[in-house]
Formats: sequence, structure tokens, C-alpha cells
Amino acid sequence: MKKLLVIYCFLYFFANSIFANEVNVFTSRHYDSDVQLYEKFTSITGIKVNVISGEDAALEKRMIEEGNDSKADLYITADAGRLGLFDKKDMFQNSISTIIKSKVPENFRSENWTAIAKRARIIFYAKERVSKDEIKNLRYEDLSKPNWKNRITIRQSNSVYNQSLVASLISNNGIVKTEEWVKGFVNNFARDPQDNDRAQILAVASGEADITIANTYYYALMLSGQKGKDQQEAAKKVTPFFPNQNDRGTHMNVSGAGVLKTSKNSENAIKLIEFLLTKESQEHIINNTFEYPIIENIEPNELIKNSNLGNNFRQDLETPVKEYSIYQAEALKLMLKAGWK
Ligand SMILES: [Fe+2]
Repeated sequence: MKKLLVIYCFLYFFANSIFANEVNVFTSRHYDSDVQLYEKFTSITGIKVNVISGEDAALEKRMIEEGNDSKADLYITADAGRLGLFDKKDMFQNSISTIIKSKVPENFRSENWTAIAKRARIIFYAKERVSKDEIKNLRYEDLSKPNWKNRITIRQSNSVYNQSLVASLISNNGIVKTEEWVKGFVNNFARDPQDNDRAQILAVASGEADITIANTYYYALMLSGQKGKDQQEAAKKVTPFFPNQNDRGTHMNVSGAGVLKTSKNSENAIKLIEFLLTKESQEHIINNTFEYPIIENIEPNELIKNSNLGNNFRQDLETPVKEYSIYQAEALKLMLKAGWK
């Protein structure tokens, strides 16, 4: 009997070491709250989640170079353009299960990757220096007009968030019109593009500029006090505004995930994506990162609700986010040509 038990134990550990029940996640999202979700996934499914985190460029380079030998099963990153470009390099496999299809609206996924959360890139302005008439019905397109001369601040053109925004303008208005727009927009800059989204909000608060474009979760993070009292006070001085409410809606981007073509644990990777799309996971994500949920019927975070960033604005649901990757390179070209640093 004892002998049998020893053999059984041996076989169990041998099988486990060969057929490890795990999933390797390469992620550029640096959120502790994501790790908490992975731990919960493990406790429910028994599937171990190994996290390899880093900057997008480095992670992508590594996965491409390692090719078939790569341990990566799932790549998670922010920005639809980035996901699309990685997909164009033939790195993902079709992993859009029926469950994923049923939960994620079509314009927020492609055949090979899906959004797990949404972000909105909106306008923030100083109430004292921007008139009601100027802000009323404002569209991204209006920010190239002469009344905004020396009043706009925004981060650099190397930001994928900006590249995706301009790509969405190309997708909607065409290259010729967007080139004109970029020229006018850059001409209205109050200062050289620099630093991150939070720094733009600070610049509006301090009076260096009157208006900016930034992702809402940065503003929420500042308001929450997690970035210190000064940033919290600064955020209170600026007002959020959702542009393009009378036409296609506000520009949306995503955090998303795709299963690698070379994945050895693709079933586990799909299970993990499906887990991230459950009600509980979505609530966990939005309450920790201040992003927007990708599935229906999730109550917004209190702070988001109280700062007029709630879910009831018109999101651009007409422009498929997978199109960003088609126009990102062209967008960057236009931006650089116009002198957008
Ligand atoms: Fe970000």
C-alpha cells in the first residue's frame, strides 16, 4: 500500500511538472489590483498565473525574438493601436470565444484580441478662462480653430494615446482634413509638448494653458488623493468635458488582451480573459484603475460618478478601435510634420 502511494505521488508530481496547469501573462499594466485578480483566478481554477511585467516595447521585442520558444501565453496592454500592430505581426491567435463575443461589443475587439476595459480621452479646461460658448458642443475638431491660439497643452506625439486619437480622426475625417486639423491644433499649443497626462492637467490648473486632452483615469487618480494633496487640489481646479457629444461621441481606447499564436496554455489564457470579463472582475478593475467597464450593467466607481465622469456620456461606438492600428503610423507622420514634438 505504502509503495502504491509513493508511485502515485511520483506520477502526480511528474505529470504536474510536464503538464503544469499555468498561464504566463506578459503585461505592461503595472497595477497591483491586476495581480489581486490573477490570485483570485488561481484560487478559483487552480491555474497558476505567472506574471512577466515590463514596458510594451521590451515585452513585444522579447516575444517576437523568442518566437516558438516564448513562454508567453497572454499579452495584456493598454492602447488598441498597439494591440492591432502586434496582431499585424502575426503574433496572436484567434482567441475570441463565444463568451468573449457575448460580452464585448464588436467595435472593442478584433478577431484575435479583445478589450478588457475602456478608457476615454477627453477635454479638461479652466472654467475661468474658457467661456461657456467656447466649451458648448465642443468637438476635438474645433481645437484647431484660432480662438484656441496659445491655450492648449498636450503630451508628446510619441504617446500612443495621442496617436490613436489622431488615427480616429483620420478614420472619421480622412487624411487631408486631419492634416489640416493637426496643423491648426499644434499652432494653438501654449507650450512645447512634455510629460504625462497628469502634468497637462496640472498645467491647466496653474494657468499655463486653458485646455488639455487627457485620459479620465489620470484625473480620477489625482482627485482620489493617491498622487498627493497638491495634485488633488489641482484636479479640483479643472473641469472635465466630453467632446463630440452631438455626433459620433468621445474618443475611446482600451486595455486589451490577446493569446499568443505560440501559446502552450491557450485554453488557460482564454479562461483568464473570460474571468477578467466577469462582473466581479470588472468591478474590481474599475474601482482600482478608474477605467470604464467593458461589459454592461456595472455601476461606476463613486469618485467617477461624483466628478461627472460617469457612464452616461456618448462614447464613440462608430469607430472600431481596431482601426487605430491602420492609421497610427500615418497619424504620427502628420503630427511630426506639423511640428508636434
Ligand atoms: Fe495610461
